Amino acid sequence: MTIQNRKKDHVDVCLNDDVNYQQNNGLQDYQFVHNALPEVDFDEVTTEAELLGRTFSFPLFVSSMTGGYSEAGSINSQIAEFCEKNNLPFGVGSQRAMLEHPEERESFAIVREKAPTAFIAANIGGAQLIGGLSDEDLNLMVNTIKADAVIVHLNPLQELIQPEGDRNFSGIEQGIRKLVVDSEVPVIVKETGAGINSEVARRLLAAGVQVIDVAGAGGTSWAKVENKRRKDFGVFESFDNWGIQTADCVEQINNLREVYRFELIASGGVYSAHDMVKSICLGADFTANARPVIQALFNGGLENLQQLFDTWTHQTRMILTLLGCKNLKQCNQNHLIK
Ligand SMILES: Cc1cc2nc3c(=O)[nH]c(=O)nc-3n(C[C@H](O)[C@H](O)[C@H](O)COP(=O)(O)O)c2cc1C
Repeated sequence: MTIQNRKKDHVDVCLNDDVNYQQNNGLQDYQFVHNALPEVDFDEVTTEAELLGRTFSFPLFVSSMTGGYSEAGSINSQIAEFCEKNNLPFGVGSQRAMLEHPEERESFAIVREKAPTAFIAANIGGAQLIGGLSDEDLNLMVNTIKADAVIVHLNPLQELIQPEGDRNFSGIEQGIRKLVVDSEVPVIVKETGAGINSEVARRLLAAGVQVIDVAGAGGTSWAKVENKRRKDFGVFESFDNWGIQTADCVEQINNLREVYRFELIASGGVYSAHDMVKSICLGADFTANARPVIQALFNGGLENLQQLFDTWTHQTRMILTLLGCKNLKQCNQNHLIK
């Protein structure tokens, strides 16, 4: 199967099949501590949040999703328009397709046309860094979208289930070290739904990575996505729920702040305002999600996505008010009980 068809398959399966983890993201184990005397004016509550030195309207990074086949251009273009309008950061999908097939560049380049001022991140798989990403490829990825950061995705679970997936993961850490040195823009490392534990996070931070997006278990299961694509469906079903819950990842990695300076993004099933604020109370600086955005787009276009975002924003301001907080920086673990 060509890489272009595979990318299209991923979007189709994510839109049409049940691909959610059975286990939840772990945030459900926490409740907010209600404040009956908040001393806060709802109208003055702000949802602004910072990441990599920029201030955004809301702590939501639209996670890397697609690019590399013709229809992907339209998806990327709409996400770009949405993020430009709402001052949100976003990532394009893996640019491997574009490096291997230069004719697919346009489905990525469109994002900078539609979002001239937005924060946009490039994206490449860890396996493509083995032996070191060449200067030529790095420049092509960054320049095509005038990227503000480069995201490396780690997805060994998905690759092992994908029939045409990579099997060698040896040398990725070294590849990340090289990328950190070579790249003029910050490097973010993310999983794709199976989570990052504190020891892996420590190795990434020691390599110079500036932002970690945990992409933990509880949302889209990429084992499920690949199992749905396999003709022998069922063979690897026992891996459908493999992964570390998002809340666990955030709690573990947050403890590394005593030793390292970094920013932390909570994602993996973080699909509601409640989960977004809980993640920040637990120690995340920002949140991200993927599937809800593409589902909203396909179910009702940009208007529907805007409605979803407006609901998240309004509810976040309600939650902050009910916690007695004027902004997200005031949120901390004391606002939660387990
Ligand atoms: C349709 C689709 C395509 C994706 N493609 C990529 C990709 O190319 N690169 C990447 O880093 N992550 C990719 N992801 C993973 C997401 O960025 C995210 O980490 C994962 O889906 C977990 O988040 P969620 O539970 O909010 O969906 C994709 C997700 C979706 C839904």
